[in-house]
Amino acid sequence: MIQQAERMKGLTAAIFSEVAELQKKAMNDGKDIIQLSIGSPDLPPAPHIVEALQAAARCEDNYGYTLSKGKTELLSAIADWYWDKFKVKLAPETEVLSLLGSQEGLAHISLCLVNPGDVVLVPDPGYPIFSAGPLMAGAQLYKMPLLPVNNYLPDFASIDEEVLQKTKLMILNYPNNPLAATATREFFAEVVALAKRYNFIVCHDFAYSELTFDGYRPDSFLSVPGAKEVGVEFNSLSKTYNMCGCRVGYIVGNSEVIALLERLKSNFDYGIFAPLQVAAIAALTGPQDCVAETARTYQRRRDIIVDGFLSMGWQVERPQASMYIWAKVPTAQSSLEFAKDLLNHTGVVVIPGNAFGEWGEGFIRIALVQPEARLVEAVKRIKEWLQGELDGRI
Ligand SMILES: Cc1ncc(COP(=O)(O)O)c(C=O)c1O
Repeated sequence: MIQQAERMKGLTAAIFSEVAELQKKAMNDGKDIIQLSIGSPDLPPAPHIVEALQAAARCEDNYGYTLSKGKTELLSAIADWYWDKFKVKLAPETEVLSLLGSQEGLAHISLCLVNPGDVVLVPDPGYPIFSAGPLMAGAQLYKMPLLPVNNYLPDFASIDEEVLQKTKLMILNYPNNPLAATATREFFAEVVALAKRYNFIVCHDFAYSELTFDGYRPDSFLSVPGAKEVGVEFNSLSKTYNMCGCRVGYIVGNSEVIALLERLKSNFDYGIFAPLQVAAIAALTGPQDCVAETARTYQRRRDIIVDGFLSMGWQVERPQASMYIWAKVPTAQSSLEFAKDLLNHTGVVVIPGNAFGEWGEGFIRIALVQPEARLVEAVKRIKEWLQGELDGRI
């Protein structure tokens, strides 16, 4: 009889698994599925990145263990990239650390900073690892609701003084998954002031920093005065360069926090496969027009979904960033019921909003991970279904 450890009880992927099961069944039934659920880019990396990977993979010297910190050239490339994009100065040796995807760092950071019973402030809705990581460290989660009425920013005034006193870590993510919301410099300045007042660390996940539209550019959290004293930022090559299978991410910012994570990782892993580091260096230091092209692709896809939904009377916001549309369920159903009905009637697969936390109930998340023609087809099918089956309800 195998008994799971207590800490495992906090980990469930129930809704994601249920959707995956339903999708599998529909495919087995021969249905033409349009997968808009998992946020895995369908676009390829630029040819110069693949070529660098191929050349490095041919070199026999590249098959040994690597240092978990990352190659010196990779750390410098990240620091230079941060300066170019956000005018944030980073010391490559002490303020940059490579990760096996940003997910890995987000999973482990709480182990470095949080004792059992400490409070971690996490966004709700939020990307699941933001809660799973702290839970594994024995943290007490405090869910900060991200509501449309507050532009999807947490309302710090609503958090009890007692909670803030016990807080060790706050996790934020803008541009946001799943909400596609963005944050302002003023908001980040407020975060820095709060973190200093209550002496906690801020982890900002900036995975969607480059998927931005209509000329919008987000600020790095670290570009706000004082941020480096209280915080770190996670970023990744997964979405920016369409390299999510390569597992190259990084953390930048506060050197003490980074030293702790580096120590943990030096016990846990042996770093990123060297050819992948070489490919990452090629991506970060090479021509950046591929990044702009990727963002333009998502922008066109965004417009197909948003314009299509608006044309059928389904009110959705047009996000300035990310690869998602966060849409209110247009019927009286729960998120899950609606997502199931949508799949059954149209073959379009989305994630029910409550998969990201209780405040996501009443919404669905649409990932823009299909070519334009498939999105046009998805809109057509949804329009026919909603107007046929649900006349007058939206
Ligand atoms: C907000 C956010 N952070 C982190 C990740 C994980 O990215 P990586 O591939 O770098 O682990 C994702 C992936 O979808 C994400 O949406």
